[in-house]
Amino acid sequence: MEKLRLAVLASGRGSNLQAIMNACQEGRINAEVVVVLSDQENALALERAKQKKIPALCVNPQEFLTREAYEKKLMEVIKGFTVDYLLLAGFMRILSPVFIRGVAIPILNIHPSLLPAFSGLNAQRQALEYGVRYSGCTVHFVDEGVDTGPIISQAVVPVYPDDTEESLAQRILQEEHQLYPQVIQLLSKGRICCEGRKVIIIEEEQISE
Ligand code: GRF
Repeated sequence: MEKLRLAVLASGRGSNLQAIMNACQEGRINAEVVVVLSDQENALALERAKQKKIPALCVNPQEFLTREAYEKKLMEVIKGFTVDYLLLAGFMRILSPVFIRGVAIPILNIHPSLLPAFSGLNAQRQALEYGVRYSGCTVHFVDEGVDTGPIISQAVVPVYPDDTEESLAQRILQEEHQLYPQVIQLLSKGRICCEGRKVIIIEEEQISE
């Protein structure tokens, strides 16, 4: 089977990107990251991609007069790389419905909470303030809402009484680094399909070659 071609959008540290690139390189997933894009010139994610000799580009929103023009450029670059899936990994901008429809490939995101709880910014802080005993992370398809798309997979971590935002974020992040590559591997095997907003994970033996 051909490798899945992935584009990744990231604004910052890029540790999820790193986990995905490592999994690709080590052959743990049948996929390759073909381009990494950021809205931040100095995003560590871009450096990480360059170290793997993967095209890494900043498309700076400040250089565009409108959001439409910015997203149009993003879309052009992504289309130029013939991509199967677009992965958001810490991309700190909300994509418009025009982009989501126009890019014409499925978009995935990873969020550091058990959605639908604690969507939006500062999910770990929200979880601590609410007093939940468990939190975790979610990989979901992106729809036109914020963190509302169909849920593909989740991982759970305990929340301890003495947790800080940082300690909880770190515990969740370790799970994120496992979960995102696992989901990509399922995609590459054609094991994920959507029925309405429910995502079905097909058993391996039910996949016809
Ligand atoms: C992660 O916590 C992810 O869930 C959220 O943004 C963070 C990105 O971290 N969407 P990194 O840039 O992948 O290290």
